Parts: sequence; C-alpha cells; structure tokens
Amino acid sequence: MTSLSPLTALDPISDREFRAFQELIYREAGIHLAPVKKVLLTGRLAKRLRDLGLQRFQDYFERVVGDTSGAELVILLDAITTNETQFFREPRQFDYLEQVIYPEWQRRAEEGRRQRAVRIWSAACSSGEEPYSLAMSLLQHFPAESGWNLEIEASDISTRVLKRAQDGVWAMNRSAHIPAHLLKRFMLRGTGSQEGLMKAGAEVRRPIRFSRLNLNDDSYPVRPGLDAIFCRNVLIYFDQASRAHVVNRLLDLLTPDGYLFLGHAESLTGMNDRVRSVAPAIYTLRGADGGRGGERLR
Ligand SMILES: C[S@@+](CC[C@H](N)C(=O)[O-])C[C@H]1O[C@@H](n2cnc3c(N)ncnc32)[C@H](O)[C@@H]1O
Repeated sequence: MTSLSPLTALDPISDREFRAFQELIYREAGIHLAPVKKVLLTGRLAKRLRDLGLQRFQDYFERVVGDTSGAELVILLDAITTNETQFFREPRQFDYLEQVIYPEWQRRAEEGRRQRAVRIWSAACSSGEEPYSLAMSLLQHFPAESGWNLEIEASDISTRVLKRAQDGVWAMNRSAHIPAHLLKRFMLRGTGSQEGLMKAGAEVRRPIRFSRLNLNDDSYPVRPGLDAIFCRNVLIYFDQASRAHVVNRLLDLLTPDGYLFLGHAESLTGMNDRVRSVAPAIYTLRGADGGRGGERLR
C-alpha cells in the first residue's frame, strides 16, 4: 500500500479500478455509474483517500471490501450519492395529496371504511425536506384534535444526510418553497449564534421516524399496509433491472388502495402492469379502485 502526505497528488483512477468501484456500487446500492461518471467518482472520493493517506484507488477499494464491519462501505456510499432535494418539491404532487387523496381518506373514515390513521414512507428522504414537507401537509389537514394518527417513516442509504434530516436544521434560505403559513406554524427561526438557520419545531418532528435503509436490499424492514410511498428522484440512479425490482417490493408494501409517488423523470409507463397512473408520477395498484372514481385536480 502506498501512503501519502497531505499534498501529494493521487494517482489517476484506471479503467480497471473504475470498473471495480462501478460493480461494487451497483451490487451494494443498485446505483449504476455510467462511464462518464468517472470524474465524479474520483472527485467525490479524493478527500477520503487523502484522509486515509492513500494514493491509489486500488488501495481504497481494498480498504472498502476488506472492512468486515461495513463502515467504509457506508462512507463510500455516502460520498457517491447525490442528495439534492427541496421542501415541497414537485408541488403538483402535494396539491394532489391535499385536494384528492386527503378528502378521499377523510370520506372513507367517515363511512367507517378505514381507520383514522395514515402511514407514509419517504423512501429516499435525503436531508429531510421531503418527510418534513409531508408532516406539515398532513398536520395541516389532520390536526391533533382531529383524532387522526399520523406516522411518517423516513429512510435513506446515506448516514450523512440522515443525520442532517434528524437534526432538522437548515439554512433559512431553504425555506423559500415552504408556504408562508406553514413556515410560521411549524418552523423556528434561529437567533443569536443560530441566526440565518431554521429548525423544525416539535409538532412537525413528532410523526417522523428515521432509519437507514438500502432500497437495493432483498427485503425492507417496513410494516406493510402503507397508505403512500414517496420514492422520488432516486430510481433515476438505478438501471432498469434494479428499478423494476425496487418498484415491485414497494408495491407489496402498499395497502390495496395506496399510492406510489415517483419523481417526474421516473415514469413506470410500459414497465409495470401492476399499477395505473392517476396523475403525473403518481400510481395506484390496478383493480383496487377503493371508491375513488377518477377525481381530478382542481
Ligand atoms: C436526489 S435525492 C432525492 C431526495 C428526495 N426524495 C427528493 O425527491 O427530493 C436521492 C436520495 O436517494 C438516496 N439513495 C441513493 N441510493 C439509495 C439506495 N440504494 N437506497 C436508499 N436510498 C438511496 C441518496 O442518498 C439521496 O439522498
């Protein structure tokens, strides 16, 4: 193994080394790194190699596969995942939740056809903007006094972003997409040494439970019977085979009249005949209308 003083240049990654990382990352996380991502991989791993005093990518690869605790693999996956997100991302999907799905759940509960309980999974939650947006949206429609029990499972493969999600603290400028009345009600504004930061308040934290979960694993430790799954802007990093595999496992966890939300670039058209689309990138299981009757967005 070649060790390195802090300012020594790294050896460029060879095609063989890149392929080894490519295969490992695909096998472990389902993420397909196209050959054009070589520069990205090198850039993302350079600091880790330097921190470990390594000069060659081959040495780092051996370190990852030789670490039986799996800790270095977690660090590798942390480094290569792309975590871009924002509050109320793809707002039309939140409109659909609020204008079509919540009233449907409400009506069915009033008719005694469902419990006053909602469970939603944010399956690649990044730094938390998605599950906290869901919590704000749900709490606004099903406030504590309504008697509804609200649960949001939030998970991601990256421990780095999960920690940020759990902290629930963001730069104030991340609030731009949060409707003003929700911002006022659910977020705290930092003062003094916390100036310029905002923090999730207790009410909006309460329904959310965080855990690390790899969507590429064979099974998910998530209780079935979910009312909705948000799995947005993560399947784009997977190839067709892993994508189909993940979607089928997600569908198995939905209630018969549950909803699957994907990112807008992640259409299932022609890929999965178990679902039908009810709005852009929103799907339900076929043959389980649940009395919806094709509502449209206002
Ligand atoms: C671009 S972010 C999307 C965040 C959020 N869902 C949204 O739409 O704004 C993609 C997230 O997927 C996570 N991810 C990538 N591969 C994953 C896997 N195999 N299992 C679980 N999460 C994964 C990344 O760590 C990252 O936080």
